[in-house]
Amino acid sequence: MDQLKIRGGRPLEGAVDIAGAKNAALPLIVASLLSDHPLVLTNLPAVTDVETLIALVGSYGVTVSRDQAHRVTLDARGAFNTEAHYDVVRRARATMLVLGPLLARFGTARVSLPGGCAIGARPIDLHLKALAALGAEVAVDAGYIVARAPQGLTGARIVLSSPSVGATATALMAATTASGETEILNAARDPEIADLAACLTAMGAQIEGAGSHRLSIMGRRSFRRAVHELIPDRVEAGTYAAAAAITGGRLELVGARLEHMAAECEVLERAGVRLFPTDRGLMVEGRGRLAAVDITTSPFPGFPTDLQAQFMAAMSVAEGACMIRETVFENRFMHVPELMRLGADLTLNGTNVLVRGVERLVGAPVMATDLRASVCLILAGLCAEGETVVNRVYHLDRGYEDLARKLVRCGADIERVRP
Ligand code: EPU
Repeated sequence: MDQLKIRGGRPLEGAVDIAGAKNAALPLIVASLLSDHPLVLTNLPAVTDVETLIALVGSYGVTVSRDQAHRVTLDARGAFNTEAHYDVVRRARATMLVLGPLLARFGTARVSLPGGCAIGARPIDLHLKALAALGAEVAVDAGYIVARAPQGLTGARIVLSSPSVGATATALMAATTASGETEILNAARDPEIADLAACLTAMGAQIEGAGSHRLSIMGRRSFRRAVHELIPDRVEAGTYAAAAAITGGRLELVGARLEHMAAECEVLERAGVRLFPTDRGLMVEGRGRLAAVDITTSPFPGFPTDLQAQFMAAMSVAEGACMIRETVFENRFMHVPELMRLGADLTLNGTNVLVRGVERLVGAPVMATDLRASVCLILAGLCAEGETVVNRVYHLDRGYEDLARKLVRCGADIERVRP
């Protein structure tokens, strides 16, 4: 298993190309199953979660053709229904997003229950309630979710008790073929959901309210060929912004969109980082030691849980103390003991972490436990004295395209090695 070796202490300088959004890509790949016309996705990130989802739709008979690295054509004309097994679903939970499109297209779906993961229990009750509201019979049988709607789905009013990203995607995809109108209330407002709605609209769906709490969908039976360019990855952009901040460097995030990153940019500005839009994206300039800023994660447009770990790394070396509260996942603090190995002064209490800024971190061997925890350790390593070795970096490949190479181009001393 590969390791990353980082010798810290160099301010990062340069430009980073921000890839297409992983969390937009996953539902979009699955959405291809709805249509019997090709869907062309461009600006697709080269990350392993995307590969997993492409292989998954391939197993349903979707023809996959790739003429360029970041572009794929998915043709589900000959798609057939099959089971999504646990050994596939556990590789990336997003694979269970096939539930909605399968039900919509074939009137039946059988998908393994995903189980918990490193960041929490992650139930899927809201996905199932949304499908039941659309008229599906949903049952759990021997570890599988079995959903049936032999007469097709029927438009309905779906009220989500919390604005789950995945449940919104499931409901939205299923509703595109339901008869009549569907309303999704308390929908997730994330840019990735708006991107899904934009792609489904290009495919022929009729959707209003994308990006708001209320989505309205008029169901239809036929789709058309569509070409859709993915939005940039705001979490990748936020990660490099944190890298500029923690190293006191200066990075231009090429392609980043400020309107997707308001909460994280506000935290950075309060911490003393200078940010300004450029013709190509966003410039982030660290200016000396960061100031400690309290952070509370919450659904979009709040501060993203997917940046909590990276910002904790940055706050570990800030001047003063702050509280970091996680309100989206109950157990997303696997990075805390690893950051402490590098000398961070952190006190974990339930879903709060008290961070007392230290003057310096010192390199050590650490273990990556999930995608965002891995990258947080890399950020810490970039500012730590001496060498940090991050083990199990395959987690990183799930969601960051070419991370080590992008960092090297900006002056980082980091190499990927196979021990
Ligand atoms: N939840 C339920 N029931 C449900 C669905 C969700 O209780 O049926 C709970 C979850 O357990 C969690 C909260 O609601 O506590 C939010 O979950 P949500 O459904 O919004 O998350 P998700 O769709 O499973 C996506 C991203 C995550 C990101 C979250 C929150 C994808 C593929 N994944 O997950 O991304 O953290 O939204 O923004 O889009 C990552 O990229 O590292 C990652 C984990």
